[in-house]
Amino acid sequence: MSQPITDRFGRVHNYLRISLTDKCNLRCNYCMPQEDMQFMPSAWLMSAEEIETLARIFVEMGVEKIRLTGGEPLVRKDVGTIITALGQLPTSLTLTTNAVFVDQYLEVLKEAGVRSLNISLDTLHEERFRSITKRDHFSKTLANVRLLLREGFSVKLNMVVMRDVNEEEVSDFVRLTLDEPNLHVRFIEFMPFNGNQWDMSKIVTYQNLLDRIGQDFVYEPVTGEKNDTARVFRAQGGQGTFGIISTITNHFCAGCNRIRLTADGKLKNCLFDTSEVDLLAPLRRGEDVRPLIYAHFQRKHFAHGGHTEFTNQDAKAEYEQNRRMISIGG
Ligand code: GTP
Ligand code: 5AD
Ligand code: SF4
Repeated sequence: MSQPITDRFGRVHNYLRISLTDKCNLRCNYCMPQEDMQFMPSAWLMSAEEIETLARIFVEMGVEKIRLTGGEPLVRKDVGTIITALGQLPTSLTLTTNAVFVDQYLEVLKEAGVRSLNISLDTLHEERFRSITKRDHFSKTLANVRLLLREGFSVKLNMVVMRDVNEEEVSDFVRLTLDEPNLHVRFIEFMPFNGNQWDMSKIVTYQNLLDRIGQDFVYEPVTGEKNDTARVFRAQGGQGTFGIISTITNHFCAGCNRIRLTADGKLKNCLFDTSEVDLLAPLRRGEDVRPLIYAHFQRKHFAHGGHTEFTNQDAKAEYEQNRRMISIGG
């Protein structure tokens, strides 16, 4: 076993998020702002074998959890091969998906030992789903969430809460957790990325969310995992939980253990750090990529990629230098 991937703040990085593609079958404007997106040419993408090789290197460096992301990971044609290959590794394996194609991969997921999935769902109303995603996949998404729960998967629903868009639905999402021990919802503060029209005024903050939920439910905090993105709560009498991912107003960078690999093989040491390191070209040249990985994490900033506080009025321009969310994977 090699040395773990640590940074100057003593954080050990053992959670690898691999983006498989920047393509998606939905068009949420906070993530992929243009209809006519220029996607990465396929020659730029890591092949299934390259993904497996890199994942094995990271596991040897101490990674214990792998999450596949996109774009939408399940639109990639060889995703079944990738899930099966990574399922062999001695790590937990999971995905963040919009769930539209989940039924097609149910057996593959089960056989690979995937036990939980995070699903992006911003509304429980069909018309609003169409307006946010520009696509008609609401009933399919909901049917697949139900299918996963029936099949015994643990499901986290990710809802990006946006002012005057879907904030009124927060309590309806909490209500879903009352009778479902395997259902957890997470309310996410809207974050800025290239081209996504972010503005501080569009955020529903951690405190706003708790105030809103407090009008309808009595709730208590639940002790979460040390590296959780979410602060977790349980509504009184509830079986599942709800959490808040408050990157903007109450960040959780002190517990960061995340490594990101983009679909074109670039290493990111933080969601918001734009200084990427290419691992794919050196891998293709047969070079050892480990020194590149260690060095990049020694450069990691404590929070938010070293950028300005979001509340600063210059923050927007700084964060817009980053990739679009669709090509990071969250
Ligand atoms: P778990 O592994 O189940 O804890 O999921 P996760 O929260 O790590 O991942 P998921 O892909 O479900 O992401 C949920 C939200 O958290 C998305 O908005 C992500 O962009 C955001 N997120 C995930 N990881 C990080 C992170 O390291 N930093 C910040 N600021 N946000 C993150
Ligand atoms: N702010 C917060 N969360 C976002 N996601 C996508 N774009 C943003 C954004 N701008 C979420 C999606 C998905 C996860 C990977 O990231 O809802 O669940
Ligand atoms: Fe880690 Fe960067 Fe996310 Fe903070 S913003 S938790 S440092 S990835």
